[in-house]
Amino acid sequence: PMLATTDVATVDRYYRTVAPFYAAEMRLRTDLDEWRGLAWRLAARRILDLGCGDGRVARALLADDPDREVVGVDCGRALLGDDPPFTFVEADMRDLPLDEEFDLVLAANDPFVHLLSDADRGRAIAEARRLLATGGLLVIDGLYVPPQDDIVAAGDGLVRERHLDDGTYVHELWRATGEHRYETLYRYERDGDETEARATVRAWHPGESALHDNAARVAGGLDERDFDPWEGRLVAVIAGWS
Ligand SMILES: C[S@@+](CC[C@H](N)C(=O)[O-])C[C@H]1O[C@@H](n2cnc3c(N)ncnc32)[C@H](O)[C@@H]1O
Repeated sequence: PMLATTDVATVDRYYRTVAPFYAAEMRLRTDLDEWRGLAWRLAARRILDLGCGDGRVARALLADDPDREVVGVDCGRALLGDDPPFTFVEADMRDLPLDEEFDLVLAANDPFVHLLSDADRGRAIAEARRLLATGGLLVIDGLYVPPQDDIVAAGDGLVRERHLDDGTYVHELWRATGEHRYETLYRYERDGDETEARATVRAWHPGESALHDNAARVAGGLDERDFDPWEGRLVAVIAGWS
């Protein structure tokens, strides 16, 4: 009751709209190798995938080493197919109904963007930290909008276009609304049909309180390279309480 559910419904509606295009969008990413590399580096036996969506990272990590235990959590099933090969828990990451320990809690293609307030981001991080085994890590592959893009988004709007490998044309428009928040409009065109999806998102910035309060190490990639403020990526690495 303390957690509003209306925003979860909005998130679910958004992902139901973009679901037909999601897998092709994700084929443009190169992060699966990076997540596999990280899991090996940490020798992670038990992995929690926060905001797992269709479970592409959970599946990749499980296929990579079937002896791992992989649990995926998402507040909705908009992207999830039938019979995922990993344990799926439908839950809000601000309030996780789990009591097990994980060596790696990961957030891929930033599910935190939908948590707009400091309090909500702090709550989700606290939940993840609560579930970390000794020596375990929470790793968030965060959305970061570099200043040169933010200036454009604050002006006429930042436009990005691309073609997916199934022929879909994608047009994105980002408008800055202040405090690292953006109104995004995605337009997909395929076979003469057009689909539009809007979302309000919040990017990370290295000084934000949820990072500071949790002693996050801020990196520029999953290999923990240095954060580069001119690049579009902020990886937060957070240890458990102990
Ligand atoms: C951009 S998708 C990323 C999916 C997946 N991690 C990937 O890398 O493909 C974000 C996901 O986060 C989920 N999500 C958003 N807010 C959430 C919340 N409060 N609790 C749990 N999941 C949430 C959405 O339902 C969506 O599936």
